[in-house]
Amino acid sequence: AKITFITRDNETIELEGTSGSVMQLAVDNNVAGIDGDCGGVCSCATCHVHVAPEHQAKTGEATEIETDMLELNDYANEQSRLCCQMEISEELDGIVLQVAESD
Ligand code: FES
Repeated sequence: AKITFITRDNETIELEGTSGSVMQLAVDNNVAGIDGDCGGVCSCATCHVHVAPEHQAKTGEATEIETDMLELNDYANEQSRLCCQMEISEELDGIVLQVAESD
Protein backbone atom coordinates (compact mmCIF):
# COMPACT_ATOMS: atom_id res chain seq x y z
CA ALA A 1 0.00 0.00 0.00
CA LYS A 2 1.21 3.50 -0.73
CA ILE A 3 1.25 5.63 2.41
CA THR A 4 2.14 9.30 2.37
CA PHE A 5 3.48 11.16 5.38
CA ILE A 6 3.60 14.92 5.73
CA THR A 7 6.15 15.95 8.31
CA ARG A 8 6.00 18.93 10.66
CA ASP A 9 8.28 20.73 8.19
CA ASN A 10 5.77 20.04 5.45
CA GLU A 11 7.96 17.55 3.71
CA THR A 12 5.99 14.92 1.79
CA ILE A 13 7.31 11.38 2.06
CA GLU A 14 5.71 8.63 0.01
CA LEU A 15 6.35 5.09 1.18
CA GLU A 16 5.31 1.67 0.07
CA GLY A 17 4.62 -1.01 2.64
CA THR A 18 3.14 -4.47 2.61
CA SER A 19 2.96 -5.55 6.24
CA GLY A 20 3.67 -4.55 9.78
CA SER A 21 2.54 -1.35 11.45
CA VAL A 22 2.47 2.05 9.83
CA MET A 23 4.72 3.28 12.66
CA GLN A 24 7.37 0.68 11.79
CA LEU A 25 7.29 1.72 8.14
CA ALA A 26 7.79 5.35 9.14
CA VAL A 27 10.60 4.57 11.59
CA ASP A 28 12.38 2.31 9.09
CA ASN A 29 12.31 5.14 6.57
CA ASN A 30 13.28 7.88 9.02
CA VAL A 31 10.11 9.90 8.79
CA ALA A 32 10.87 12.91 10.97
CA GLY A 33 8.64 13.14 14.02
CA ILE A 34 7.62 9.49 14.13
CA ASP A 35 9.80 7.99 16.83
CA GLY A 36 7.91 4.94 18.01
CA ASP A 37 9.61 5.13 21.39
CA CYS A 38 7.49 2.44 23.02
CA GLY A 39 8.06 -0.01 20.18
CA GLY A 40 4.44 -0.02 19.16
CA VAL A 41 2.59 -0.94 22.32
CA CYS A 42 0.48 2.18 22.39
CA SER A 43 2.07 3.81 25.41
CA CYS A 44 4.19 6.71 24.17
CA ALA A 45 2.23 8.65 21.52
CA THR A 46 5.42 9.41 19.57
CA CYS A 47 3.70 7.93 16.55
CA HIS A 48 0.78 10.36 16.61
CA VAL A 49 -0.59 11.28 13.21
CA HIS A 50 -3.62 13.05 11.84
CA VAL A 51 -5.49 11.20 9.14
CA ALA A 52 -6.78 13.37 6.29
CA PRO A 53 -10.58 13.54 6.70
CA GLU A 54 -11.22 11.99 3.29
CA HIS A 55 -9.17 8.95 4.30
CA GLN A 56 -10.69 8.29 7.68
CA ALA A 57 -13.06 5.74 6.21
CA LYS A 58 -10.03 3.64 5.23
CA THR A 59 -8.21 3.84 8.53
CA GLY A 60 -11.20 3.55 10.80
CA GLU A 61 -11.44 5.18 14.16
CA ALA A 62 -8.93 5.14 16.96
CA THR A 63 -9.32 2.18 19.27
CA GLU A 64 -10.17 2.66 22.91
CA ILE A 65 -6.58 2.23 24.05
CA GLU A 66 -5.48 4.91 21.58
CA THR A 67 -8.23 7.24 22.67
CA ASP A 68 -7.18 6.82 26.30
CA MET A 69 -3.59 7.60 25.36
CA LEU A 70 -4.56 10.62 23.29
CA GLU A 71 -6.88 12.09 25.88
CA LEU A 72 -4.02 13.89 27.59
CA ASN A 73 -2.45 15.04 24.33
CA ASP A 74 -2.85 18.74 23.54
CA TYR A 75 -2.62 18.11 19.83
CA ALA A 76 -5.13 15.32 19.57
CA ASN A 77 -8.33 15.77 17.63
CA GLU A 78 -10.88 13.58 15.91
CA GLN A 79 -8.38 12.88 13.12
CA SER A 80 -5.81 11.49 15.52
CA ARG A 81 -4.43 7.98 15.37
CA LEU A 82 -1.42 6.34 16.92
CA CYS A 83 0.01 4.78 13.82
CA CYS A 84 1.61 1.84 15.63
CA GLN A 85 -1.95 0.63 15.97
CA MET A 86 -2.53 0.76 12.23
CA GLU A 87 -1.70 -2.45 10.42
CA ILE A 88 -0.57 -2.00 6.81
CA SER A 89 -2.86 -3.59 4.26
CA GLU A 90 -4.03 -2.77 0.77
CA GLU A 91 -7.01 -1.20 2.47
CA LEU A 92 -4.76 1.72 3.44
CA ASP A 93 -3.52 2.37 -0.09
CA GLY A 94 -3.36 6.07 -0.86
CA ILE A 95 -3.80 7.45 2.65
CA VAL A 96 -2.14 10.68 3.74
CA LEU A 97 -0.95 11.08 7.31
CA GLN A 98 0.16 14.30 8.86
CA VAL A 99 2.73 13.94 11.63
CA ALA A 100 1.15 15.55 14.69
CA GLU A 101 2.74 18.33 16.68
CA SER A 102 4.20 17.46 20.06
CA ASP A 103 5.57 19.36 23.03
FE1 FES B 1 4.31 4.26 21.08
FE2 FES B 1 2.70 4.16 18.97
S1 FES B 1 4.81 3.75 19.05
S2 FES B 1 2.21 4.70 21.00
